[in-house]
Amino acid sequence: MKRCRIKKAIIPAAGLGTRFLPATIAQPKEMLVVVDKPVIQYVVEEAVAAGITEILIITGRSKRAVEDHFDPPFELENLLEAKGKTELLQEVRQIANLAKIQFTRQRRQLGLADAIYQGKSFVGADSFVVLLGDTIIDSNGCDPCLSEMIEIFNETDKSVVATEYVQNPADVSRYGIIDPGENKSQKTSAGVKYLDVHDLVEKPAAARAPSRLAVASRYLFAPAIFGYIERTKPGKGGEIQITDSMRMLAKKEGLYAYEINGQRYDIGNKIDYIKTNIDFALKNPETGQAIRSHLESILNQAG
Ligand code: UTP
Repeated sequence: MKRCRIKKAIIPAAGLGTRFLPATIAQPKEMLVVVDKPVIQYVVEEAVAAGITEILIITGRSKRAVEDHFDPPFELENLLEAKGKTELLQEVRQIANLAKIQFTRQRRQLGLADAIYQGKSFVGADSFVVLLGDTIIDSNGCDPCLSEMIEIFNETDKSVVATEYVQNPADVSRYGIIDPGENKSQKTSAGVKYLDVHDLVEKPAAARAPSRLAVASRYLFAPAIFGYIERTKPGKGGEIQITDSMRMLAKKEGLYAYEINGQRYDIGNKIDYIKTNIDFALKNPETGQAIRSHLESILNQAG
């Protein structure tokens, strides 16, 4: 196997979060808390666990809290030290030391492709991963999604997009959908499955969907993607859609689809955010028992 060259990640977190208003007027959705830490920290930890050492977070207006979170004030550290709160002190310090984290602003919210484009000089000639800052992937004990995507890249040298199987066929119209054409899935030497992407279709009607594999918030791109973003015209809602840039990438350079194991949590909408908190609270050793009893008692009353 070739040496892994993926060390950099871009985390777009500049979106306006209109689906979650009014919570997102002054507070970034990426800073919404799941049990005891903000969503963006889960995302950074996922990147670090896959061997990423340099991270660029794309922020915008009203997103200062994201920067502050990864730069905890030393007054807080001094206070925790003086009070002998060693465990909390370690947790706070560990946040600042997770990786080399930088920030840049997307001045106008022109879409995900434009947000990724803000990382062009950070990335230089390196291939890199993109993790959406409002989505947590819980591998649920399976091999982590990013590590498997990196493994595919290490063996093939091609860009890779994470996908998720859409359970309800009617839901395909909400996503970017992979068109595999006649291609059959292949495997890496360690058995990780991937599929050559023939094309992609943005939000197809259920009857016209070429597959049920939806693009799912994690990407591994060769730097060539920036050239295709430059050529991408604004699409739906005036936004520069990464799906359109990926269509060109797939045709000209090749692109593989990888189906994630585990569970994807998009916290950008209210219902999924609440479900995420319930799932994580049930799994957390500190909160699990109390929340389970609470839910059982509510359900018993309702029944
Ligand atoms: P969404 O598609 O959820 O868009 O972005 P949004 O604007 O944040 O939210 P809504 O639809 O108004 O509720 C997916 C990810 O891409 C980032 C977001 O921060 C989120 O992490 N994004 C999106 C940007 O960084 N810039 C953009 O211009 C758009």
